[in-house]
Amino acid sequence: MARLKVAVLISGSGTNLQALIDACAAPDFPAEITKVISNRPNAGGIARAERAGIAVQVIDHKTFADRRAFDAALDDALRASDIELVCLAGFMRLLTEEFVNRWHDRLINIPPSLLPSFKGLHAAGQAVAAGVRITGCTVHFVRAEMDSGPIIVQAAVPVKSSDTEESLQARIQRAEHLCYPQALKLIAEGRVQVAGEKASVKDDGFAEDNRLINPT
Ligand code: GAR
Repeated sequence: MARLKVAVLISGSGTNLQALIDACAAPDFPAEITKVISNRPNAGGIARAERAGIAVQVIDHKTFADRRAFDAALDDALRASDIELVCLAGFMRLLTEEFVNRWHDRLINIPPSLLPSFKGLHAAGQAVAAGVRITGCTVHFVRAEMDSGPIIVQAAVPVKSSDTEESLQARIQRAEHLCYPQALKLIAEGRVQVAGEKASVKDDGFAEDNRLINPT
């Protein structure tokens, strides 16, 4: 069976990109990363893509007059490579409504929070400041409004009283590295349907008594 052709968009260190690369290395994984795009010429994730032999393109947002022109270049690059699904992995640019609509239900993101809580920058810091005992990460289809859209996979992550933004962010990221490949697999297998702005997962492995209580 043909594998789903995926592009990953990055701005930084690319640990989520690495998790996706590692998952796609399995011969029976239903998706393949055929392109990585970075909006920053010095993003650490570029080397990860090169090591994996994936075509990398830098589209530096600073060289464009405005957001629309940047997003148009992004769109052109994705179409030129026949990309079927776009994964934002630490891609720190807001996308225009036009771009988001063109990639409707073919564009996914992973913010470090249990949406709809703690949207925007410093989600782990927001969770520490709010004093929640549990936060997490979310993989969702992207809509024009920031950090919104049908939810595909979430993981709950406990917050320690002694946590700082950095220690919590590191714990959330370890959960992200499990969730992102799982979400990609579900989509590539055709098991995710969106209806009425809610996503449902066919044959989801659901454990009725699967609870995370913190503190234990
Ligand atoms: C990830 O933790 C991701 O959740 C976050 O950036 C980090 C990127 O790390 N994304 C956002 O905050 C998006 N608003 P990575 O480059 O090592 O994958």
